[in-house]
Amino acid sequence: MKYFYIETYGCQMNAAQSGQVKEMLCRSGFIPGEDYRSADIIIINACSVREHAEKKVFDRISFFQSLKKKRKILLMVIGCFAQNNGEKINADLVLGTSRFHTIPELLSRKIREKYLDLDMEEYLFLPPVHEEQYPFRALVDIMKGCNHYCSYCIVPFVRGRQISRKSGDILREVRDLADKGTREIILLGQNINNFGQDNKDIGLAELLFHINAIPGIQRIRFLTSHPKDFTNEIIDAVFRNPKVCPSLHLPVQSGSDRVLGLMNRRYTREQYLGIIRTIQSYGKEYSLSTDFLVGFPGETEQDFMETLSLAREVRFDEAFLFKYSPRPNTRASLLKETLTADEKKERLSHLIKIQKDIEKEKIKDSLNKERTVLAEDVSLKNKDQYSGRDELNHMVVLPGPVQKGGMVRVRIRQIKGMTLIGEKI
Ligand code: 5AD
Ligand code: SF4
Repeated sequence: MKYFYIETYGCQMNAAQSGQVKEMLCRSGFIPGEDYRSADIIIINACSVREHAEKKVFDRISFFQSLKKKRKILLMVIGCFAQNNGEKINADLVLGTSRFHTIPELLSRKIREKYLDLDMEEYLFLPPVHEEQYPFRALVDIMKGCNHYCSYCIVPFVRGRQISRKSGDILREVRDLADKGTREIILLGQNINNFGQDNKDIGLAELLFHINAIPGIQRIRFLTSHPKDFTNEIIDAVFRNPKVCPSLHLPVQSGSDRVLGLMNRRYTREQYLGIIRTIQSYGKEYSLSTDFLVGFPGETEQDFMETLSLAREVRFDEAFLFKYSPRPNTRASLLKETLTADEKKERLSHLIKIQKDIEKEKIKDSLNKERTVLAEDVSLKNKDQYSGRDELNHMVVLPGPVQKGGMVRVRIRQIKGMTLIGEKI
């Protein structure tokens, strides 16, 4: 058995780690298949943050199990989903979040009965790799785990305590990626603002400064920030290091102080707005995305109204909107749910509608602005055009010819849906 295929569900951390596993397997002589049809080893790397997403993964596992009746397949399930559901998963190999480095050896073995490894004691970071579709971008995980225990969140339970990588190792690897053609680095960590605090290393602000100095690297982004830890020093690093994109992701979750308290977020609405005022005080263009979690146990109509009013007040460029689902082990899962599934759905739809309208309005701010686009690919709709992202993370279409991975200055001339149409300057 040699041909493998990895199916990934969930956040960018999962995407990054699937890339690392693929690279590791290729180095060990395994061959990546085009899709699951051509693979005899199928690996599912999946998320457990929300219940709904987990259900889909269970369905997918059943589908692959049904394929097994027709041909020989080895099914492996890894990551947060595996860590959370271990025994319940019907697969040949189940491996939690921590021991991915053992995968090549495991797949070389003869598997006679279900293999289960959920040990979280040992953690080895794997070297980062280029993104497959866009080889000039690399996702670099710089830390794992989270010590925050927001009351709804399963991450501390499935990914464990925070562990940061050594800054020296990260910088060496980023230099290496830059030498091989990477132009954009996306730094990843569940709680990235606290990078370096667990091992007395430099913090995120200083790390950004050092990466900014690496020749060849043109762009740096980082995810995911927590408002409580999003210090002035980090904001300063964003605006003083020209390669750091001023496109920030800062999950707010709720606009109600009462709900934020129940969520154990440890900031208030006013403190969140204070961060935005600090960002604005630099007088530079920026974009802001967020996550909202609606329907938390005990969320009243008034609390929800405060969330809507926050969305209207801040006018986020983009928002990822979720309805609450209880997760095992979390403190919120002990709270009695006060809303029906329909009520949660209704609130979510209401917020989606308001947010979509804001996004459509807000994108117009880009008209006639000058931006720099990292050209990613020929446009899907027109082969004479290229698409890419500007420094604020908006999708931009521009006329060719341009070099893939090149940085192109454009003026935004038109807006189609949520895509900006640029003209080279
Ligand atoms: N239910 C719904 N959404 C959740 N998230 C985290 N935990 C839950 C949960 N139990 C959302 C939060 C977080 C994003 C990654 O997923 O909004 O920021
Ligand atoms: Fe979960 Fe909160 Fe940690 Fe984010 S900061 S991973 S929401 S516990």
